[in-house]
Amino acid sequence: MHHFRYVKGQLHCEGVAVEELVQQYGSPLYIYSSQTLTHHYHSLEQALSGLDHSICYAVKANSNIGVLHTLAKLGSGFDTVSQGELMRVKAAGGDLGRCVFAGVGKTAEEIRYALKSGIYAFNIESLAELQRIQAIAAEMGKTAPVAIRVNPNVDAGTHAKITTGTYENKFGIAYEDIEALYERMARMPHLKLRGIQMHIGSQLTKVKPFVDAVRKMIPLVKRLRDRHGLECFSIGGGLGIVYDPALESGTPAWWQGKQAKGLLTPAIYAKRLLPLLKPLGMRILIEPGRFIAGNAGLLVTRVEYIKDTGKKHFVIVDAAMNDLIRPSFYEAYHQIVPIRASRATLIPTDVVGPICESGDTFCKNRPLPKCREGDLLGMLSAGAYAFTMASNYNTRAMPAEILVDGDQHHVVRKRQTLRSLWQLESLPKG
Ligand code: LLP
Repeated sequence: MHHFRYVKGQLHCEGVAVEELVQQYGSPLYIYSSQTLTHHYHSLEQALSGLDHSICYAVKANSNIGVLHTLAKLGSGFDTVSQGELMRVKAAGGDLGRCVFAGVGKTAEEIRYALKSGIYAFNIESLAELQRIQAIAAEMGKTAPVAIRVNPNVDAGTHAKITTGTYENKFGIAYEDIEALYERMARMPHLKLRGIQMHIGSQLTKVKPFVDAVRKMIPLVKRLRDRHGLECFSIGGGLGIVYDPALESGTPAWWQGKQAKGLLTPAIYAKRLLPLLKPLGMRILIEPGRFIAGNAGLLVTRVEYIKDTGKKHFVIVDAAMNDLIRPSFYEAYHQIVPIRASRATLIPTDVVGPICESGDTFCKNRPLPKCREGDLLGMLSAGAYAFTMASNYNTRAMPAEILVDGDQHHVVRKRQTLRSLWQLESLPKG
C-alpha cells in the first residue's frame, strides 16, 4: 500500500500535490511518503509482536538520511553493507549498537570502523573474512560480535540477479560447513558468537521459500544455540512488494492510484514463520528493505518530446536509466501514471529516457493515456533500489529528494549541480 492518491484530479503524496513540488524543485524528482514508510514498519512490527525480534532496515534500499531518521525514530535497527552506510545511520541519528554489518568484501578499514562503533554483529561471509576480523579485533584489544551467513541452498524463485541462497551464488557459507566453523570460531578469543544469519533473495512474492529455508535451518540453529549460546537468528530480508496492481485486479488501476493487496503480507509471513521460530527462544532479526521503502517512493519526470515513428509511439522523458535503473537492469516493472489524472485514449507507448543506450527504456508498448510535451508522469514504487542505484552516467545530475509528512515536506537531498560532477577531477599537469 502507499499514500499516493488523486485528489481532484491531481496526484498527491499524502497531503501535498506532486505538481507543486515539481514547480518548486524541478524534474526529475524523487518524492517519498513518510506515512507509507511508517505504515510498513508498523505492519511488520505488529505481525512479529508475538516474538522477541528486531527489525534491521536494509539501508541499501534507500539510504537517504531523512528516510533513515524516520525509521530510527520508529525504533528500527539497520542492516548495513559498508562503512558509508554505517556513517549514514549515525548521521541520521540511528543506533549503531543496533546495526548489523554484512557484505562479502569488508575492508580492514571498514572492520575497524565497525568495531569502534560497537555494532551489534558482523554477518560473516567467508573463513578468510572471519580470520581478518579476529586479527583486527585482537590488534584493537576488542571482541567482535559475529554471526555466520549460512547459505541454505534454497531457491528463492526470484529474479536471477537478486537470488542469493543457492550454491551458485557468492553469498554465505555452505550449510554443511557451518558446525565445524563455529567450533573453530569458539576457539578464537576475540570473537563473540552472537548468532547466525541467512538471506535467500529479494522480492520474494511467495512465503514457501522462506518456510523451506527456515525449516532447513532450525535443527542447525538449535544445535548451535545449545552448544555456543547464540542469542539471535537473522532470517534476512526479501519480502516482496506489489509493483503491478493491475496484474492482480485485472483493472487499469493506474489512474485511480489504487494498490491491490500484496501477494505476500506480513500477516502471512508471520503466520507461517512464527510457529517455527518462536520455540527457538532466540531473538529473531529481519532485514527488510524493499518492503518498507519500495512503495513509499515516486519518481516524477517531465515529457520532453513525443516521437511517433509509425511503428512506435515514444514518449521521451527527462528521467533516465541513471535515475532509475531497475527497468533496464532487471526488466523490472514500475507503474507509470499521469500526475494530472487523464481520460485520454490509451495508446501503446514506449517511455524512454535521453541516454544514448537502447536499454534506457522504462516501458515498452504499455497502454498509457496519450501525453503531450510538458506533461508530468510518475513512476511508482521507486522508494527502494531507485535513488540508491542512481549514477551520473552521461554527466547527468542526480535528482533532488523530497520527504513528505502530512501536508509538510522536507528537501532531504538537494539536486546535484552540474559543476559538482567534475569537482573532484583535474587536468593533467603540463
Ligand atoms: N539482507 C541482505 C543480506 C541482503 O543482501 C538484502 C538485499 C537485504 C537484506 C534486503 O532485501 P529486501 O528486503 O530489500 O529484499 N537492487 C535489487 C535488489 C538487491 C537486493 C540486495 N540484497 C532490486 O532493485 O531489485
